[in-house]
Amino acid sequence: MRTLTATCCLVCALAAGCAMAPLGPKDGELAVPADYKRWPKFLSAVQRPDAKQVREIYMSPAAAAATASTGFGPGTVFVMENYAALETTDGKLATDAEGKLVKAELLRVFVMGKGAGWGQEVPESLRNGNWIYASYLADARSKGPEDLTTCRACHLPLANKDFVPRYDEHFSAARR
Ligand code: HEC
Repeated sequence: MRTLTATCCLVCALAAGCAMAPLGPKDGELAVPADYKRWPKFLSAVQRPDAKQVREIYMSPAAAAATASTGFGPGTVFVMENYAALETTDGKLATDAEGKLVKAELLRVFVMGKGAGWGQEVPESLRNGNWIYASYLADARSKGPEDLTTCRACHLPLANKDFVPRYDEHFSAARR
């Protein structure tokens, strides 16, 4: 037992103090994956007239194999593009022939991802399982101004849907 402890501590010391090391990226540290536009869509053209936005949600390829009962595994990443909805000159929201909002400029790129042990440094009252959050401007590189605890606070009540607001909508559209 003593030898085991000693070996363990040595390994820890070499790994620059594993007890102190964070277990994964924190809020704001998850980059926008370079190839996300080639990922499967989680949901397309999400209509948010209340926010005057249209949103495109992509999921990392492995997430496409998830079912409503398996849920999303560690390694899942979602990228959501938030577009302003086009407004007419009189300030109303423009719609296309199908009555859908029309995308104007890209405002933000939101990312959420989960991994084993991620997000555990967050106080329990704001912990969203193993999910962490990040916000970027339209260039997908510059950090967005949002306080990332607001992301957590709004997704938090969705704990029984893995913190993913449109969980049921996605799986019913995917017929799983
Ligand atoms: C006021 C509530 C609210 C806040 C604040 C919020 N979200 Fe969400 N989020 C939602 C809803 C609702 C959806 C589903 C899509 C929709 O209806 O726009 C969503 C969807 C997402 C998605 C797509 C994957 C999924 O779970 O459906 C990502 C990624 C995301 N949010 C990240 C963020 C990030 C990052 C922030 C903070 C910068 C944030 N959210 C703040 C409510 C919120």
